[in-house]
Amino acid sequence: SAAEKGGWSSFMVKEITEQPEAVAKTLLGRAVDGEVHLQELEAIGADALKDVERIVIVGAGTANYSGLLAKYAIEAWTRIPVEVELSHEFRYRDPILTPNTLVVSISQSGETMDTLMAVKYASENGARTLSICNTQGATIPRESDAVVYTHAGPEVAVASTKAFVAQVVALYLLGLHLATVRGSMSAAAIADVVEDLQQLPEQMETVLKQHETITQLAGWMADTRSVLFLGRHVGFPVALEGALKLKEIAYIHAEGFAAGELKHGPIALIEPGVPVFVVVPSPRDPDSLHKKVVSNIQEIRARGARVLVIAEQGDAAVLPYADVVIPVPLASKFMEPLLAVIPLQIFALELASAKGLDVDQPRNLAKSVTVE
Ligand code: G6P
Repeated sequence: SAAEKGGWSSFMVKEITEQPEAVAKTLLGRAVDGEVHLQELEAIGADALKDVERIVIVGAGTANYSGLLAKYAIEAWTRIPVEVELSHEFRYRDPILTPNTLVVSISQSGETMDTLMAVKYASENGARTLSICNTQGATIPRESDAVVYTHAGPEVAVASTKAFVAQVVALYLLGLHLATVRGSMSAAAIADVVEDLQQLPEQMETVLKQHETITQLAGWMADTRSVLFLGRHVGFPVALEGALKLKEIAYIHAEGFAAGELKHGPIALIEPGVPVFVVVPSPRDPDSLHKKVVSNIQEIRARGARVLVIAEQGDAAVLPYADVVIPVPLASKFMEPLLAVIPLQIFALELASAKGLDVDQPRNLAKSVTVE
C-alpha cells in the first residue's frame, strides 16, 4: 500500500535508498573496535571453523551474485578455496562434501526451494551448513547448523537491492571472522577492513545523490533494446547483477561479461550505438587492472559503442573515451563493488519507470520461488 511505501513511489526506490542503513544494521554489534565477532558461529564451533578446508556458496539469482562477489574477499582473507554454485545445479552433480566443507547458503527470503534442497543435501551428505538470510525464522536457517542474519529489513520489491549489499557485508564478516579464528590476517589488517566497512554507509549516501543524473540517462535510453555490462575482478559480479536488474524489471536484453573475455566473443556484439556499462577498477589498483579495463573501453569505443562508465571520482583516464561517467567515492578494492552496483540498480529502476512498467511487480517473476 501507499502507506507502507512511506511516501516513495515504489518499494524498489525505497529499498535502494535504504542501502546505507541495511549495511550499518548488518554490521551493528558484529564489527566493533576493529574486530569481528559473529556469535552466531558458535553453533558451529571454533574448532570446526579452524578445520574448514573448502567453502561452497549456494544461492539463486541475486543471492548467487553476492556469493560470486564475496568469494574474492573471502579467499584473499582466509586462503580457503571458495566455490560459488547455483543452488539448483549443486546437488545434481554429486558434489564432493566432507565434514570440513562449509556450505554457505544465501537467501533473502530463506524460502527458495532450490536453495533449501541444496542445504538439505549438504547436511545429509556430511557438510556443515551456514545460512545467510534476511528473514527471521525462515525455513533455510532452520535447516542449517548456524545462521547469520542480514538486517536489511523487509524487502518487498521483486528485484533484490538492499538484501544484496547486506548479503555481501555478511559474507565479508564471515570472511573476517574466519580469518580471526584461523590467524590468516593480522589484527591490524582486520581493523583496516572493519574501518572500510564502517565507511560504506556514508559513501553509499554519496552515490545515492546521483539518482537524478541517472534518471536523466535512463530517460534518454528508454528505447534501448539491449545493454551490455563489463567488469573485471570484483567488478565482474557487479556487471552480472547490473544486467540481471535490467532484465528483471525493464525487460531489456542485457548481458554481463568479464571485461577480459571481451576479445573472446562479446566484442562481436559491439556495433555503433550499443550501450555498454563498464565498471572500472580504481586507478590506484596495484595489479594495473585499471589500465586493462581502460584499454577495453578504447576497443569498444572504437567500434562505436556508447560507453557509460562507473569510475572512481577523479579518474581522468576514462574521460576521453566515455560518453557518460558516473563517479563513485574512493574506496578500498573490496568495497568498490558495493558502491558501483548502486548506479546500476537506479538505472534499471528508472529505465523501467520511463517505460511505464510496474517496477515492484515485474511480469512472470516472484519474490520468492518456493517450487523447484
Ligand atoms: C527470485 C527473485 C530474485 C531473488 C531470487 C533468490 O528469483 O525474483 O530477486 O534474487 O529469487 O531469492 P532468495 O530469497 O533466495 O534470495
